[in-house]
Amino acid sequence: MEFEGIISQDPEMLKIFDLVRKMSKIDAPVLVQGQSGTGKELIARAIHAQSPRNKNSFVDINCAAVPETLLESELFGYNKGAFTGAASDHKGYFEQAHEGTLFLDEIGEVHPAVQVKLLRVLQEHRIRPLGGSNDVSVDIRIVSATNTDLLQAVRDRIFRQDLYFRLNAIVINLPLLRDRINDVPLLARHFLGIACNEMGLSNVDIDPEVLGKLMRYSWPGNVRELQNMIVAAVCSCFMADSSGPSDVRRVITLDDCPTLNEKVARSPRKTRLTDVPFYEARAQFEKDYIETLLKRFDHNISAASRAANISRKSLTTKAAKFGLIEPVRRAETLEPEPVMI
Ligand SMILES: Nc1ncnc2c1ncn2[C@@H]1O[C@H](COP(=O)(O)OP(=O)(O)OP(=O)(O)O)[C@@H](O)[C@H]1O
Ligand SMILES: [Mg+2]
Repeated sequence: MEFEGIISQDPEMLKIFDLVRKMSKIDAPVLVQGQSGTGKELIARAIHAQSPRNKNSFVDINCAAVPETLLESELFGYNKGAFTGAASDHKGYFEQAHEGTLFLDEIGEVHPAVQVKLLRVLQEHRIRPLGGSNDVSVDIRIVSATNTDLLQAVRDRIFRQDLYFRLNAIVINLPLLRDRINDVPLLARHFLGIACNEMGLSNVDIDPEVLGKLMRYSWPGNVRELQNMIVAAVCSCFMADSSGPSDVRRVITLDDCPTLNEKVARSPRKTRLTDVPFYEARAQFEKDYIETLLKRFDHNISAASRAANISRKSLTTKAAKFGLIEPVRRAETLEPEPVMI
């Protein structure tokens, strides 16, 4: 389904859409957490778009990109003559976002000195521009985002606890793309449609082999990485066959995604136990368990079986079944399988 340009069919994401719909009507601060490329900015924009503030500005500030020395003047603005070069009054982001939404992206990067000032604004809803002698009232909704563990930063005393509590009245945790793998084909087709539209192509599809590979990759860069890969693949497909009419049927193949095979090999997606039927999950668990145990005991079967509290024979049979022990020991697997404990 599509919600404010965000595509997903994942149950966790659908719950987030619901939450956004409901809480957009109130002004409580929202903290959006998630790894890079999971869609934090899209969610922040959706909150604004769904809110009664949507006729006013959505002001987006990347706290990590603005140098600390400028952040204060950018946030709070300045009056003419406040410092050398302040030739005229300048409205800061807070004033620009008046009656709208202020999106504080990468909030975890804000310098402690600025954190104190942010806290004051959030408590008092007033700002004082640099060089100004009067406070200005501001009516804003704050949405902040981070891809770092802000709570850990609080524990490490890098981030103020009082500010943290001010920002996180509502918390949205965006899931990793690999944990909503059924979104991959949906998103791939979505980005394919956009890229084809931009390049004036129609009738382009994705080879099922490519889709299969896309679903076996762990996507450390999340949705952004998928988007980039699809755009690159459409470019490759377009360049390879740009002579024909635009409506000729084209298919994105593995040749159009030259890095995909290597990526899947280097960083395969580990399926979650609950993604597969019970017996498959059990086999997966047994394999991981025995593999770890054998490594721990340097392939000493007796020691490993003692630690696992199963018979030596049982462990050997299992290990052989999963290809975890050397062929010479596989002979033992010919014996009848003992009852597992
Ligand atoms: N569910 C989605 N549906 C459609 N497009 C998406 C979705 N999630 C992310 N995107 C797209 O992926 C890209 C990355 O999304 P976004 O910028 O919101 O991520 P982010 O979490 O803010 O990343 P970062 O931490 O790197 O800033 C954008 O181009 C966005 O439009
Ligand atoms: Mg972002």
